[in-house]
Amino acid sequence: TSSIRPRADPFNLVAPQIAELRQSLLPLLASGHPALSEITKYYFQHPSKQIRPVIVLLLAQATNGLGGDWGKKLWEAEQGGAGLDTPFTRPDVLNDWNPSMPEETSRFEATWPLSPAGEHRRKGKDYVPPMSGGTRSALCEPMKVLPTQRRLAQIVEMLHTASLLHDDVIDESALRRGAPSAPAAFGNKLSVLGGNFVLGRASAALSRLGDTEVTELIASVISNLVEGEILQMREVKLDGKGDAVVKAKTNKNQEAWNIYLQKTYLKTASLMAKGARSSVVLGGCKEGEAWKEIAYAYGRNLGIAFQLVDDVLDYESASVTLGKPGGADLQLGLATGPALYAWEEHPEMGELIQRKFEKPGDVELARDYVLRSSGVQRTKALAQAYADKAKEVLQELPSSEAKEALEALTERVVGRRS
Ligand code: FPP
Ligand code: MG
Ligand code: MG
Repeated sequence: TSSIRPRADPFNLVAPQIAELRQSLLPLLASGHPALSEITKYYFQHPSKQIRPVIVLLLAQATNGLGGDWGKKLWEAEQGGAGLDTPFTRPDVLNDWNPSMPEETSRFEATWPLSPAGEHRRKGKDYVPPMSGGTRSALCEPMKVLPTQRRLAQIVEMLHTASLLHDDVIDESALRRGAPSAPAAFGNKLSVLGGNFVLGRASAALSRLGDTEVTELIASVISNLVEGEILQMREVKLDGKGDAVVKAKTNKNQEAWNIYLQKTYLKTASLMAKGARSSVVLGGCKEGEAWKEIAYAYGRNLGIAFQLVDDVLDYESASVTLGKPGGADLQLGLATGPALYAWEEHPEMGELIQRKFEKPGDVELARDYVLRSSGVQRTKALAQAYADKAKEVLQELPSSEAKEALEALTERVVGRRS
C-alpha cells in the first residue's frame, strides 16, 4: 500500500482497552453462588484471541467523530445516559438471508469465484456511499473510544464465551485453550447453566447501553448463533419462511456449499458483523448508515474468512497447537470447506458426507480424500478472497492508525496457525 508508516498492530493499538475490559468483567459476572462464579469466569481466565472485542474497539477508533453527534454522544455517555431519543429504523441486516431465499447481489460480499458451485451473496439493499467523505468532528479526540463502545466490546466477548460453554457440551469436546473444557472440568449441567448465566448478564449490560438499534442487532446475533448450530446439523433444513423441514437431506454439492457458507455467517461472522455495526451505531456519526454498512461488511467478510481458516486448521494443525482437539470436524460428522471441495474432485465423498462419516473407517477414508484433493488449498484461497474483500470495503474510511490496524487484522486472520 501507499502507507509510509509500518502498519499499526491491531492488538497493540487497543491493548489498554482490552486490559481494562478484562478487569471490569469480574463484577459483571459476580454471583452469590461460588460454583456459578467459578464456571462463568473459567473461560475468561484462559483468554481467547480477543478478535471480537478488537474489531469493536478498532471500528470505534476508525469511525468516531466522522461528522455528526459524536461530541454529544460522549457527553451523554459520561452523564450516564446513552442517547435514548435516537430514532431507530429497522436495518436490513436483520432480515438475514436464508439458504432458500432468492439471491440478490451486493457489492459488499466477497464473490465466490473459486468453486464451480456458483456465488453466494448477501440479501441486502444496495450500498449508498457516504456523502461527506471523511471529515472528523472538531470535538473528536483521535483514538478515543466511548464508554458504551468499550462495554459493547465486553458484551460481544461474553456472548462468544457463552456460546463456547454450550458448544463444548454439544461437541463433547474435552479441550479448550489448552486446558480441560468447561464440561470436562465441571460437567455438562454446569456448563449449560453457566452459559445461560453469562448470556443473562450480557443481556442486562446490553439493555444498559440504552440503544434500541444495538439491542436488536446483538439480540439477533444470539438467534443467529443457534440458527448456525441447527443448520450445521443438516438433518434439519430451513425453508424460506424459517420453518424447519426435517430430514430433507440433500446430496447436491451446490446446496451443501450454500448451507455451509450461510452456516458460517450465522455461527461466526454474524457476531463480528453486527458487533462492528453496533460499534458505529453507538459512535453516532453523521451519514451513519453508510459507515454502518462498511462496518457490517468488514465484520461479515472477516468473520467468514476467520471460520474458513478455522476449518482448514482443523485438518492442518495438531491439538497441541490449537489448544483444542484437531481433526474434530469429520469426527463430528461435519463436512467443511476442504471436504466440500474434495467432493467436487472425488465424487465418492458425496456418500460419505451424506451419511456423516458414520460407518467405521469413514472418517479415515474421508480424511484421505481431502488430503489427496486440493480442498485445503482452495479453502485457504477462499478465505483469502473474503479477507481481501474485508480490506477492500474499508477503503472509504478516512486514513487513521485504526484503519491500518483493521487492514492488518485481515492479514493476521488468514496467516494464523492457531
Ligand atoms: C464454535 O464452533 C461454536 C460457535 C462459533 C457457536 C456455538 C453456538 C451455540 C452452541 C448456540 C448457543 C449460543 C449461545 C449464545 C448460548 P466450533 O465447534 O466449530 O469450534 P471449536 O472447534 O472452537 O469448538
Ligand atoms: Mg461446534
Ligand atoms: Mg466445538
